[in-house]
Amino acid sequence: MAATGSIDHSTNPGGHDGGKAYYVSTPIYYVNDAPHLGHAYTTVAGDVLTRWHRQRGEKVWFLTGTDEHGQKVMRTAQANDMSPQEWCDRLVESAWKPLWRHLEIANDDFIRTTEPRHTERVQEFVQDLYDKGEIYQGSYEGLYCVGCEEFKLPGEMVDGTGEYEGQKLCIIHSRPLELVHEDNYFFRMSAYTDRLLAFYEANPDFVQPASARNEVLKFVQQGLQDLSISRSTFDWGIKLPWDESHVLYVWVDALLNYATAVGYGADQAKFDATFPADVHLVGKDILRFHAVIWPAMLMAAGLPMPGKVFAHGWLLVGGEKMSKSKLTGIAPQQLTDHFGVDAYRYYFMRAIPFGQDGSFSWEDFTARYTSELANDFGNLASRVAAMVGKYFGGELPAATADSEAETVLHEALAGAVKSADAKVEQLDFQGGLDDIFGFVKLVNGYLTEQEPWKVAKDTSEAGQARLATILYTAAESLRALAVLLNPVMPATAQKLWESLGAEAHLGALADQHVQNAGAWGQLPAGATITKGEILFPRLEEKKDDAQ
Ligand code: ME8
Ligand code: MG
Repeated sequence: MAATGSIDHSTNPGGHDGGKAYYVSTPIYYVNDAPHLGHAYTTVAGDVLTRWHRQRGEKVWFLTGTDEHGQKVMRTAQANDMSPQEWCDRLVESAWKPLWRHLEIANDDFIRTTEPRHTERVQEFVQDLYDKGEIYQGSYEGLYCVGCEEFKLPGEMVDGTGEYEGQKLCIIHSRPLELVHEDNYFFRMSAYTDRLLAFYEANPDFVQPASARNEVLKFVQQGLQDLSISRSTFDWGIKLPWDESHVLYVWVDALLNYATAVGYGADQAKFDATFPADVHLVGKDILRFHAVIWPAMLMAAGLPMPGKVFAHGWLLVGGEKMSKSKLTGIAPQQLTDHFGVDAYRYYFMRAIPFGQDGSFSWEDFTARYTSELANDFGNLASRVAAMVGKYFGGELPAATADSEAETVLHEALAGAVKSADAKVEQLDFQGGLDDIFGFVKLVNGYLTEQEPWKVAKDTSEAGQARLATILYTAAESLRALAVLLNPVMPATAQKLWESLGAEAHLGALADQHVQNAGAWGQLPAGATITKGEILFPRLEEKKDDAQ
């Protein structure tokens, strides 16, 4: 049986302590508009992942930010009668940063590509590639999607119909492509085809999930073309240091954020302690930039490769990718107003297998909120606190009469912790939450079977010892749940931690290592249990305008 109560703070199976930080990035998002559910999806996933690793006692670095150059942002600013810089400043401060604060995103830094700490280092990076002969001058004619900020190949476009008759459309944005004919500078990316293929071969986990890996392999196996990396017909970008009539292609500029934000060319100690990323989280729309162009750039510069690129699926609305440009974007605040921030964070991680597409539905969210959060988890917490209050005056009794039923629970918890830890490490958030909520169900089943409210009527010494044991077991289970759910629902977990009186005995919730959460018997008898506020209140009637 696992009732050892011993906690080993020295082990760190992830092995990220001491030296390099576990470094996770989100994409840096275009600030052509305010964030919607899709952007929040990636950022919440990154936050859950990094909070989990932080709570394993690891050193972590979580980076997000904004992508501010290029035609897409420039044109939006123009349409709003503002300079691009003014437009970006306003949107970043009024929409992007406030949303991440609202969603409890604990990013360690926020990089904006218009900051000098980025632009200056980017110029040095490209100058270095130019000096190495990796960049040459040529000219290009092709069809460009401003939505993607990318030249499209023949297989990546469809014929327009109706108002777009006779034009080629971007598959992702359903908008006409623009014919661009310019003199550009090119990066010799074609030279990296074989090295990239060898790298994918030697690092089978580099691109995940498997569907994304296969897509990348197929693309690179066709042979890479050189990449046009500058534009000369507009100026909202970083100037090429050797030819100021060109601005750097916005994607090369943007990808370099992952290096400049952690001290590339400026703070070598920080760079060494952080770079490269362990995980680049991206949506599958921008997989190739991260799994092909970025590694090729790093190879050219002689910098180390990231650990992995994980491409998650799309949130769909009416079967289409939710997007700003198609006006299917839903603002996260519409949902958090109704369900609360923690339920929001939980829902998207729980409902959609990470790596697959998923349809957001108000009904599904409501059903999960009510059954999993309010009934299974929230009620468990309030019932246990109420019974410890009623039968033991709020003082947690000792478990002196363990039986087979308790042993089963101890072992189930240890198993759930181990499994959830392994799954989150693999970015299987849904699987990890399945394990944790499977344990919630077991504890509920345990109480239903043990019927403490009936045992309470048995005033014999043995009866009271059983009652104490049952309630201790339930409260100690909640202690573990607070730890395990803290990365996903930090405000709720904190309320639970307080209601269990755990802080006085065990210290801050954030200092509890998740991998030790299954060691039984940590919450000591004598802890003061109070009935805190309801964790997941009944939902208000849904407002019509919030649908
Ligand atoms: O591509 N479902 O920025 P972007 C899931 N600036 N995720 C979604 C989504 C959806 N419907 N819609 C957006 C860019 N996302 C570049 C990135 S990185 C060096 C530069 C998320 O504003 C998802 O992470 O178009 C996707 O990859 C990203 O937002 C695209 O954001
Ligand atoms: Mg986009």
